[in-house]
Amino acid sequence: MDLFEAIKGRRSCRNFSPDPVPEDDLGKILEAGTWAPSPLNAQPWEFIAISSKGVKEKIFSEAERCRQWAIEKTGWKWLGKYQLDFLKTAPMIIAVIGDPEKSGVDMFQEEGRMGYQHACAAAVQNIHLAAYALGYATLWFTLFDKKVMREILGVPQEKVPLALICLGKAGSEMPPVSRKDMARNIRYIR
Ligand SMILES: Cc1cc2nc3c(=O)[nH]c(=O)nc-3n(C[C@H](O)[C@H](O)[C@H](O)COP(=O)(O)O)c2cc1C
Repeated sequence: MDLFEAIKGRRSCRNFSPDPVPEDDLGKILEAGTWAPSPLNAQPWEFIAISSKGVKEKIFSEAERCRQWAIEKTGWKWLGKYQLDFLKTAPMIIAVIGDPEKSGVDMFQEEGRMGYQHACAAAVQNIHLAAYALGYATLWFTLFDKKVMREILGVPQEKVPLALICLGKAGSEMPPVSRKDMARNIRYIR
């Protein structure tokens, strides 16, 4: 698949069919994650591929708890209608765990350890694009408490659960999404 087609065609999916993801495809998708750039090539990620029904149920319960908290905290009414069932129906969830010890020179700078998060974000996008190129749909999901997610996934305190990627075949057409006029967000210095 043409790269630009994948970049523009990928959409966030919130409705998955139950078809499992074969090991072979999963391997290719995870490998794409490992080819992301990272500070000092430190590769500050761990990917946990979750297909366990029980663990997906726990993730759903935590996200549901977090959603209720967010409704109270933000007052955003749309969160009341936001259904999280995709966390149970997606055949696979890939958890992306970051290691703050594997950041770059930024660990000595004012803003602190950010590089490991940037690298993990690049890995997440690689995973999204590779999955799309293989005919899968994905969702980048972050509505969870890191502490609780550590407990669910058995992640040590010093590592950071940064993202959950729901992965599977789309269960329905995804609604179109637009982008702002790109001229508003681009500036040239010549
Ligand atoms: C850092 C990050 C966090 C996100 N967290 C969530 C989330 O918790 N739940 C969700 O449904 N979508 C989440 N998204 C997906 C965005 O809502 C989605 O990318 C955006 O609406 C644009 O739609 P598109 O991905 O189809 O282009 C997240 C995206 C990013 C980059």
